[in-house]
Amino acid sequence: MCCDEYAPNRLVCTKCGKEFNLLEKRIVCDCGGLLEIRLNKSASKLSWNSFRKRKFNLWRYRDLIPLPKDTTIITMGEGGTPLISSFSISKELGLNEFFIKFEGSNPTGSFKDRGMSVAVSFANYLGVKVVACASTGNTSSSMSAYARRARIEPVIVVPKNKVAKGKLSQSILYGATTIAIEGNFDNALEVVLRASSLGLIYPLNSINPWRIEGQKTVAFEIVDELNKVPDWIALPVGNAGNISAIWKGLLELKEFGLVKKLPKLLAVQASGAAPLVNAFRKGLEVPEPINEPETIATAIRIGNPASGQRALKAVRESKGCFISVKDEEIIRAQKLLARYEGIGVEPASAAAVAGILNVLEDIVRKDESVVAIATGHALKDPDVNSSHEYSLLNALNIDEAVGLLRKLTT
Ligand SMILES: Cc1ncc(COP(=O)(O)O)c(C=O)c1O
Ligand SMILES: [Zn+2]
Repeated sequence: MCCDEYAPNRLVCTKCGKEFNLLEKRIVCDCGGLLEIRLNKSASKLSWNSFRKRKFNLWRYRDLIPLPKDTTIITMGEGGTPLISSFSISKELGLNEFFIKFEGSNPTGSFKDRGMSVAVSFANYLGVKVVACASTGNTSSSMSAYARRARIEPVIVVPKNKVAKGKLSQSILYGATTIAIEGNFDNALEVVLRASSLGLIYPLNSINPWRIEGQKTVAFEIVDELNKVPDWIALPVGNAGNISAIWKGLLELKEFGLVKKLPKLLAVQASGAAPLVNAFRKGLEVPEPINEPETIATAIRIGNPASGQRALKAVRESKGCFISVKDEEIIRAQKLLARYEGIGVEPASAAAVAGILNVLEDIVRKDESVVAIATGHALKDPDVNSSHEYSLLNALNIDEAVGLLRKLTT
């Protein structure tokens, strides 16, 4: 498969506009700004039909992922996740079209696999020996898996005692060297940034522009599967890499004539960790950090989002909205999804659905089409799952158990 014709060849600083060679190992500009990959040639020959001749996973869109032609792709078939139609919730709410893009079906159970497949492929191309990331748990699981597949050493930095059990167990399984820091995600990221600037590790947080190239593909898939652009895409926002990636993907689709309109973004944060909601309301371009973010949705327990500025710009450009939801609302939405649709998601993902429920009719109209991105699988956070009430009946023997069933069904 050749992508040279559309060979993107620039890393561009999102702050000062300085350009660098695409294949440079650098992550940030000299001015401190984050770098973004720009595709520089017209991709006029691209069409949905040409994409659809390939398997349904993120590599279907290889033409828009500017890895050098001779890169060994480190893949486990990530992407190609189901877009599940909501039957019960949409009926209950009177929503015309409501879909869940279930990213929990990725190889390590979250959307992070998209970014890691691409970024680890590039790290491998560069000949990197050690990769590192700060993580609330999903990035570290994903990075560890893909790094192992590429025979690169994974080192993860996580907030001590704040990573959900399912996620921690994954990185243990992959044998990642783990630094558990007294502090939160923002402190962990500081460690990785410092280690990166000292040249000790290659960082694989979403500040790495190659992560964004992988993660933008969820936007391609949504349009590909729906065969149209939805009115809204709702998603949870923590460090804000994913929303930046999705908006970048959507803008590229428009630039290359693959879509005519763009969706509005409904960006959802937990009320105890909502620096971007505050900034959006105050009309700020740059968020003010929150020192002690707190929420049951540990994946978005972030007070100082690295890509916050990009996210604010994206949501404003899309004419969308940043909103917050309470932990109780997250838990309620998680239960609704599981018990009315059979879709099991982790709390952060349920936040996106809680957000839609909160603003239905005020911001999202019932006749609009909505896709909520369920970013991570329910098994990621078994403790929260087990905290839901359910009906438990104990039986001492077979006869008693059958007796209980008789009572229940007659
Ligand atoms: C399940 C889940 N949802 C949402 C997010 C937020 O993504 P981002 O930090 O890119 O905003 C994360 C990040 O860790 C996550 O793991
Ligand atoms: Zn710069």
